Amino acid sequence: MKQFNARQIKILQELAKGQCLSGAELGNALGVSRTAIWKHIKQLAELGVPVCSLPQKGYQLSLPIHLLNEACILSALPVSSLKSELQFHFFASIDSTNRFLKNIPSDRYIHVCCAETQTEGRGRFGRHWHSPFGENIYCSSRWHFFCDPSQLSGLSLTVSLAIYAALKSLNLHSGIQVKWPNDLLWQDKKLSGCLIEMNAESNGMTEVIIGIGINVNATGQHKAIQQPWCSLYDITSAIQDRNAIVASLLLSLDNYLKRFSNSGFQPFLQEWNQLDYLKGKQVTVNNHSGNIQGMAQGINEQGQLVLKDAFGHTHVMSSGDTTLGI
Ligand code: BTN
Repeated sequence: MKQFNARQIKILQELAKGQCLSGAELGNALGVSRTAIWKHIKQLAELGVPVCSLPQKGYQLSLPIHLLNEACILSALPVSSLKSELQFHFFASIDSTNRFLKNIPSDRYIHVCCAETQTEGRGRFGRHWHSPFGENIYCSSRWHFFCDPSQLSGLSLTVSLAIYAALKSLNLHSGIQVKWPNDLLWQDKKLSGCLIEMNAESNGMTEVIIGIGINVNATGQHKAIQQPWCSLYDITSAIQDRNAIVASLLLSLDNYLKRFSNSGFQPFLQEWNQLDYLKGKQVTVNNHSGNIQGMAQGINEQGQLVLKDAFGHTHVMSSGDTTLGI
């Protein structure tokens, strides 16, 4: 895992203004030589920063990048007890933000790990989560629940609704739907996903790591992604402020997870029903026990997916991967 040094951050802040800057201009801004700038640019490129060198002109970012940072996220959060509970970890590059949080010792804080890129970003069912530098949000946070993991069914759906609510509070929700168990979709294309991992603790508590990937400013052709996807940029035609979205996400998670802790999934049922992408569609659900096909009937009070197969039999699914059609 790698973190930026102060000079690399300053170079990125200068280049984030959008213009092409020569080595001499950057050198003046930082008070270092052109050779030093060249070395830093080379290191930035090695980290995955999309910086191009234009012959006779200088350096330019191929995408305006405002780095994720704690001060911006905190300043977008209201004064609340949440603020004092958060412990941030930022990386320029890391294998996986979920993995990082799994390996740090337990304590009373809500740890949040964000990275500009992940080299081994993990999706559900062992899939890879494509994580290009600076374009999107790769954010994991670790929360405590005063119960056993078996009492957490419906949590992944609650997290999807929390992501939706976070986008709604920034007016970025138009046309977005939730796909059981925990994807957000827009026009049949995946906008976000989350990977939830749990550690049961000996004292009756459960530590939950919620890893969220949201495609924010990705505009390019990412051929590495196997399924139809979209970004907030596609939805709004505007570059979005990732710090504001992370702040909104943490606030929303705090709100939804507290309500889930107190009353389970039932209070969220209606909200899910209004946004349900699968309801009334023919789907295939893949899980450890095989494939089941049927018409999605919606979900029950525990957040399980209800399917009716071609013989009229009802199936209730607690986990799985869903695809449309048969
Ligand atoms: C999925 O839809 O398959 C889940 C994708 C989860 C991706 C996020 S990005 C931040 C966190 N770190 C990871 O390695 N994965 C999750």
